[in-house]
Parts: sequence; C-alpha cells; structure tokens
Amino acid sequence: MFPLMTSGIWFVLLTISVVFMNLSPLLMVEGEQQVPCLFIMGDSLFDNGNNNNLITNAKANYPPYGIDFPDGPTGRFTNGKNTADFLAELLGFDKYIEPYATVKGVEIFRGVNYASGAAGIRDESGIHLGDRINLNRQLRHHKATISHMSTLLLLGNKTLTKEYLSKCIYIVGMGNNDYINNYLMPQYYLSSKLYKPEKYATILIQQYYKQLKTLYRYGARKVAVFGVGSLGCIPAELDLYGTKDSICVDSINSAVKKFADKFKPMIDDLNSNLPDANFIYINITSIAIGDPTAIGLTNLAEPCCEISPFIAKGQCKYNGSACSDRASHYFWDGFHPTEIPNLVSAQRAYTALLPTDAYPFDISHLAQL
Ligand SMILES: *[C@@H]1O[C@H](CO)[C@@H](O)[C@H](O)[C@H]1NC(C)=O
Ligand SMILES: *[C@@H]1O[C@H](CO)[C@@H](O)[C@H](O)[C@H]1NC(C)=O
Ligand SMILES: *[C@@H]1O[C@H](CO)[C@@H](O)[C@H](O)[C@H]1NC(C)=O
Repeated sequence: MFPLMTSGIWFVLLTISVVFMNLSPLLMVEGEQQVPCLFIMGDSLFDNGNNNNLITNAKANYPPYGIDFPDGPTGRFTNGKNTADFLAELLGFDKYIEPYATVKGVEIFRGVNYASGAAGIRDESGIHLGDRINLNRQLRHHKATISHMSTLLLLGNKTLTKEYLSKCIYIVGMGNNDYINNYLMPQYYLSSKLYKPEKYATILIQQYYKQLKTLYRYGARKVAVFGVGSLGCIPAELDLYGTKDSICVDSINSAVKKFADKFKPMIDDLNSNLPDANFIYINITSIAIGDPTAIGLTNLAEPCCEISPFIAKGQCKYNGSACSDRASHYFWDGFHPTEIPNLVSAQRAYTALLPTDAYPFDISHLAQL
C-alpha cells in the first residue's frame, strides 16, 4: 500500500505518533521535554551558526567567541550559551536546537534555529555588513522546513503536519538591527532621514505584525515574541553617540521605546484576530530590572573581549584577548551580553519574576497550553 515508505519514514511516524499520544518514551527519557519542538527566529542574540558560511562581517565563529562554550566558537555571539540555548534547556530539551544551515533529516522535528546576526524586520537592515538572513528570508526557510516535514510525515499529510506544528513553541526576537544596523546609521541608511522616530516605530511594527501573521499561517500557535531593550546603553552605541560621562544615550532609548511600546497592542491584536493563537510578549526592559551585583555582575560598562577597530566595529577582534573575570562582566563585546545575562533573560522569560516580565503570561505557561 505504501511502496515508497522507507524505514526512516517509519521511524518518524513512530516518533510522531508517540508524541501525539503523550506517552513519549522515545523523546522524554529523562523526563519533561515539555513540547515536541522549538523553532527560533531572530538576530545575533539567538544565532547559533547560521552566518558562518555567509559573506558577511556579522560573524562570531572565531576566538574568543565561544571561549566558555563546550564546542568553542560556533557562531554564537557570546562567550558561552545564548538565550535560545538556555530556553531549550528550560523546556527540557537535552540538546540545543540545530541551526538551519546544518540541520539534517529527522532533526527538523525537534525544531530549527533560523536566527541570523545583523538580520532585521526590514530586508535592508544590516546590509552594510554583508549577507544576512532577514526575517522574511527566515520565514521562507521555515516554509521549506515544513514542506520537508510534510514529505516525511505520512507521505505528505498536511493536516497531520499542521497538528504537529501547533504544538511547538516559537521564539522570535527581532528589531534590534532595525535600529543598530539601520536607523542609527545615517551614513548607510536613509530611514532616519525619511521617518521621525514615531513613524519609523509604526512602520516597523506593522511589518512585524504581518510577518508574525505569516508564521501563524504556517501553523504556529504558541509564540513568544521578545521585545527590544535599551539599545542606547550598549557600549557600541555609547561609543558612537555617547558623551564623556553618559551611561546611556537618551535619544536612542527614547526612539526605541516608541517601538517597544507598540508590542503589547500588537500581541493583543494577534491574539484577538487569529483563532487559537497564543502570542506572548517578553519584556526585555522589565527583565533588566534588578540588582546585577546580586548575581556577581559588577562591570556593567566595559566589554570583556578586545574590540575590533574595523568594519564590524564593536565585535570581538579576530583572535583577540578576553577578560578572565567573565562572570563579572555584563557585556561580552560591544553589542552582546555575556552568558550570565543570557541565562537571566531565559529564566525570567520562562518563569516571570516581575509581573511586567511577560504578557499575558510566561513561557512555562505557554508550554502547558
Ligand atoms: C491525514 O491524517 C489525519 C490524522 O491521522 C487523517 O484523519 C486524515 O485522513 C489523513 N489525510 C490523508 C489525506 O491521508
Ligand atoms: C515593560 O517593562 C517596563 C519596565 O518595568 C515597563 O515600564 C513597561 O510598561 C513594560 N511594558 C509592557 C508592555 O508591559
Ligand atoms: C588565530 O589563531 C589561530 C590559533 O592560535 C592561528 O592558527 C591563526 O593563524 C590565527 N589567525 C590570525 C589571523 O591571527
């Protein structure tokens, strides 16, 4: 009856039906993998190797990146694990989610990480650094994954594929580069000449809304959307726009806040307009509240690694040095946090500490739906 069915397909069928029956002996040996799959879309905060073979300066597959990661430099833009890695752990996955660039075969059923350094909501964001996988392209990659899944599943049963995809968690973190590598770089991009901050924020959120709706059309029902933080306080922006004693560039924070303030209404719109949708908002600004010294972070201003003076100014210098007290530095390079803030972000996104950390609820609740 199914002459084309190979043992590989049977393996997938078995695994999938086991997940659906919620007995899951194959996937939950150590207990508690809370969802069958995790898909990740985003920028360098979540990227785990998708830029390695692209022609771009937005890369992190060289020392000292990964100095505290078991596999060394992998393309993660930090010293150790990133927030997406920690979220996978908190959700009970025994291994991080593979990058789209290298994921193979039935691995796609656990989920795929599509994130790409320098990528944005807008196609052009980050182009001065070279190639990058912007959100529209990440969505096309996801579409390709789904079509591959449906081929493996019951020789192309789309209903079953949709059912499976509705049980996955999707983590999306976008927008940072639409400021850092677009609006805040008037020498390369026209956006700040064309739009005032309020108008730019509106345009961005409208495009993001459409892209998240596309993700929903592709079967996503449990989506955690990470907001943008205080970009005016990162070393690379202070370097460009700061005055001698400033801790943050207020004009940048105020422009970015106009965008951040539109997330909650967007989440409400998505949830009320799309049947069975469960979108949640992770508030990075709220998650940043707390006493950093309580977790050993005493250096909140200086990057830990030696900074490259060249084109991707703010990234670590190729083969450059790294500080030894990495556990006390908030910033790893000019843009990205060290592993410890990444862990805190994941923990508070998973289990909210303050009521403002996640809206309307946190990722642990999203997993239980
Ligand atoms: C697809 O799978 C579903 C659920 O097992 C089943 O009800 C449906 O008949 C299948 N559709 C096709 C076209 O095989
Ligand atoms: C995000 O957190 C900040 C800091 O607590 C707060 O001012 C803001 O209102 C929060 N935003 C939302 C949408 O909850
Ligand atoms: C970087 O370091 C590696 C390992 O020590 C060495 O083989 C390589 O030549 C160095 N490259 C540059 C450009 O310094």
